[in-house]
Amino acid sequence: MVREEVLAALEHARGTVISGEALSQKLHVSRAAIWKAIDRLRADGLQIDAVHGGGYCLVEHDDSLTVAAVQSGLHTQKLGRELVILPTTASTNTMVKREYHNQCHGFTLLSIEQTAGRGRLGRTFCSPDGGLYMSILLRMSLPLAHISRITLAAAVSVCQAVEHLCGLSLGIKWVNDIFCGSKKLCGILTEASIEGETGAVDSIVLGIGVNLHLDASLPEEIRKIACALDEFCSAPPRRAVLASEILNHLEQNLNLLNADQFVSILSEYRSRLFVLGKTVQVLGDGAPYSAIVDDINFDGHLLVHLPDGSRKTLFSGEISILPQK
Ligand code: BTN
Repeated sequence: MVREEVLAALEHARGTVISGEALSQKLHVSRAAIWKAIDRLRADGLQIDAVHGGGYCLVEHDDSLTVAAVQSGLHTQKLGRELVILPTTASTNTMVKREYHNQCHGFTLLSIEQTAGRGRLGRTFCSPDGGLYMSILLRMSLPLAHISRITLAAAVSVCQAVEHLCGLSLGIKWVNDIFCGSKKLCGILTEASIEGETGAVDSIVLGIGVNLHLDASLPEEIRKIACALDEFCSAPPRRAVLASEILNHLEQNLNLLNADQFVSILSEYRSRLFVLGKTVQVLGDGAPYSAIVDDINFDGHLLVHLPDGSRKTLFSGEISILPQK
């Protein structure tokens, strides 16, 4: 308890010194209790400088992922207000579905690493310490046909957050991949639970994984297709700052969605969709085929035409960019 309160106070004053005396008065505990809490926070890996004369300072670049650090950057009403951070878990999406499914709208689970991170189409999502792995429980009732609107809103939110924090411009590969240049920076996994009687969606687990640093030990096949923020910005944002910025944008975009303003999310999405007009390979249930991307429709489905001129609407599945003629 004292530990959490000391952390919140240090986080509030991040980069500046607070005296042990001031902390002890503010929290109504002894100097010894403050000292003990600082000791425990340091043991947990927080970078807290001790300043001559008995002051403490949580250093500006300390990248520890804590509830206090994430929440200090939140401007949301609901998202991230209930927040749990685990040192490790198999998959934050699986964990929310299994252990936190009764939580309220906006409940957010972060994990420092995932040992069995999941991607779309049964793929794995490599999730070593250093990236951002987050799942948000959304209690929204919407028709199943509109579920991809959530993925689109999440993709736009991640782009807006990263662009704002790092000054980069990002691209989106339909439907859920965010690219920086020619490589994937972020993946999104939207999983819905359906109400039996109506077939409508009643809750959603929205998983977001962002690479901040690619470890040299990662398999070569991942390094070939993935990139990380630290390749593009000299000082990538702290994980906590990125998490809160994504949640801030996501809440705004979900509010637009709820207010029947999906059209403005779609226009943000389309402006980053770099597959428009490109020849792609479509991977679905059947054999892969090539197609040219015409547009995206109001439900987030991709409109393509085939070399024989026939037109198709893609509801799900995956596309990959082919060498352009
Ligand atoms: C994809 O690239 O196909 C989607 C990747 C989604 C990864 C995130 S990380 C947090 C959440 N937990 C998971 O197991 N997956 C998502």
